[in-house]
Amino acid sequence: MDDVPPDLAGHPDRLRWNARYGDAPALTAVHPLAERALALDLPDGGVLDLASGPSGSALHAAGSGRAVTAVDVSEIALDRLGAEASRRGLGSLITLVQADLGAWRPDPSGYALVLCTGFWDRAVFGRAAPAVLDGGALAWEAFTEDARRARPGLPAEWCLAAGEPASLLPRGFTVLQQADDANTGKRRLLARKAR
Ligand SMILES: C[S@@+](CC[C@H](N)C(=O)[O-])C[C@H]1O[C@@H](n2cnc3c(N)ncnc32)[C@H](O)[C@@H]1O
Repeated sequence: MDDVPPDLAGHPDRLRWNARYGDAPALTAVHPLAERALALDLPDGGVLDLASGPSGSALHAAGSGRAVTAVDVSEIALDRLGAEASRRGLGSLITLVQADLGAWRPDPSGYALVLCTGFWDRAVFGRAAPAVLDGGALAWEAFTEDARRARPGLPAEWCLAAGEPASLLPRGFTVLQQADDANTGKRRLLARKAR
């Protein structure tokens, strides 16, 4: 990555996640939601991976020939993703963006797939859904409020309320899957935008 943007120098999310990635395994596995979404008949267009981390899903999407934009606040995560993309000859397909998703805005020209796993912010979801191209897909996974029983330290604003995120979809989307995993306390959404 280039130098850390000055506004992120002391950003608490960046500091926390850089510390966590310091000794974590190099890459995250390809997420099953990403696999399922990419197997749909999607329109031409890129993939947006929000809060990507060192994303196996981004690599999988690039490996299928899609241009990928990976956005994350952690330069450690993005450097790892970039290094692995280069090693696989996929570097030209992956654009790494170090940014706070609270401030970052998607490209208005849109994406065939918007993917976000392991992160929840209602405002970010509200900007992500309209960035899906007609015929494209939105795939999201985050903790539910139930997860707070097992992890009382989990802030409520990081957790999906009942019915979310499907209940927040704009008109034109069809829910293909919304399901909870009681073991992880997470909920997955896969939705498709009408052509
Ligand atoms: C639980 S990890 C999920 C990573 C990956 N998507 C996955 O499913 O394994 C959460 C990610 O969100 C990123 N993150 C946290 N706060 C952020 C923010 N405000 N803006 C952008 N990224 C953020 C972290 O750096 C981290 O990579």
